[in-house]
Amino acid sequence: MLILGIESSCDETGLALYDAAHDRLLAHALHSQIRMHQDYGGVVPELASRDHIRRTVPLLRQVLRESERTLGEIAAIAYTQGPGLAGALLVGAAFAEGLATALGVPVIPIHHLEGHLLSPLLSPRPPAFPFIALLVSGGHTQLMRVAGIGDYTLLGETLDDAAGEAFDKTAKLLGLPYPGGAALSELAQHGHPGAINFPRPMLNSGDLNFSFSGLKTAVLTKVREFGAPDDGQRADIARGFQDAIVEVLVKKAMRAVRNTGLNRLVVAGGVGANRELRRQLDARAARGAITVYYPELEFCTDNGAMIALAGALRFRAGLSIKAAGGFAVRPRW
Ligand code: KG4
Ligand code: ZN
Repeated sequence: MLILGIESSCDETGLALYDAAHDRLLAHALHSQIRMHQDYGGVVPELASRDHIRRTVPLLRQVLRESERTLGEIAAIAYTQGPGLAGALLVGAAFAEGLATALGVPVIPIHHLEGHLLSPLLSPRPPAFPFIALLVSGGHTQLMRVAGIGDYTLLGETLDDAAGEAFDKTAKLLGLPYPGGAALSELAQHGHPGAINFPRPMLNSGDLNFSFSGLKTAVLTKVREFGAPDDGQRADIARGFQDAIVEVLVKKAMRAVRNTGLNRLVVAGGVGANRELRRQLDARAARGAITVYYPELEFCTDNGAMIALAGALRFRAGLSIKAAGGFAVRPRW
């Protein structure tokens, strides 16, 4: 029961082979296009699509070689159907549907965020269902109740910018290269806590929704106020921004845990790599007898392993398995 997973929704090409019979990731390979897009300050969709085309076959060969498996052993092919860049998604979808047709195996279209929220199951100490998931990526910020594979209840989400988007836009304002999330959090380490206080949007809204566009505007206003902020001021802005966003994320995640009476919290998506977010979540969780689960760092950002895993779980549950041939991507799914 070998499942091939393919991720190509944005600027990472990821392929992986997952053994659904023994619940084991056999191999995964990734190519990040970040450097290619950096000169443009963001992802250039056309360049992304073309690069996915170049990378897919070599990465497939790599996972086959590393796992010492052959194409003939693949039982189904899971691929990211959306959301994401249409052209980039089409590369993965076309490749998956074509290969599946040739091999005579079915396909399993996967929602990219499902991959993210299941990614902690790839770690040696996986969480049991049900759990609360805080999904914080470049495109999404959501709190979900996850009861089982395919059984998700949306508890709250951002009304405007995603957390990662806010990190990236703030980083850009501070002159950091794209994608700025990690660089901004590095810079924040040199800033003084409390030197600059940014608003905590919707901190006390009483629900589980988020809003981050006002925070970005507050940063812009602060940068303009300084004129050309020096290194110390830039670090203080980064610190103030990170403290604000982390406080909101931690408070709402803990509220979701409390409201549902669950004691397992999964944190997934690129922003889940943020050290300050992890530190504060762990501290709060320890006080409340809550266990927080993070994906391994390499599975925090986009990768093929989480898509292969989601495919394997759906395959075993008999969910969304479809005959290969004829496909549609869902960029805004
Ligand atoms: O999940 P992901 O790889 O891609 C999407 O599906 O969007 O998330 C990428 C996002 C980017 O916005 C990036 O800046 C952010 O995750 N990110 C971070 C950190 N590492 C990545 N944000 C804050 N702190 C980090 N250490
Ligand atoms: Zn992602």
